Amino acid sequence: MEKKDVTALLSAAFSAREQAYAPYSRFSVGAAIMTEDGRIYKGCNVENASYPAGLCAERCAIGAAVAEGKRAFKAIAIVGSEAVYTTPCGICRQVLHEFHVPLVICARTREDYLFIEGENLLPHAFDDTALHS
Ligand code: THU
Repeated sequence: MEKKDVTALLSAAFSAREQAYAPYSRFSVGAAIMTEDGRIYKGCNVENASYPAGLCAERCAIGAAVAEGKRAFKAIAIVGSEAVYTTPCGICRQVLHEFHVPLVICARTREDYLFIEGENLLPHAFDDTALHS
């Protein structure tokens, strides 16, 4: 993926993080996903007083893209705190796997990020191959 695309995705993820609704954990997360045709969709975590009803930033970003008819993706960027690389939770890994997201960019800052290849996200994942076998 080109550096300019990484920069654009990170910028969108940082901007999405500003909208995070995280009054319970106080851990704001932003995500931005790039489609095959170069569009970017943003998501942030949206918590709830009923804790399990909270949504992660990654799934909100994917939902926003899917609602616009986009299902083919190049990469997703995630930004939480500066202290650590915020990596996707187990449920989000399952959803990223569903849409074959090939690259996950976990950022601490705009200059400090790591890449996770999609194929390394969820070994032995359950998916439609099992359902259709
Ligand atoms: N969270 C995300 O939005 N994405 C992640 O990758 C990790 C965790 C959110 C869920 C919850 O609102 C808060 O961060 C603390 O777990």
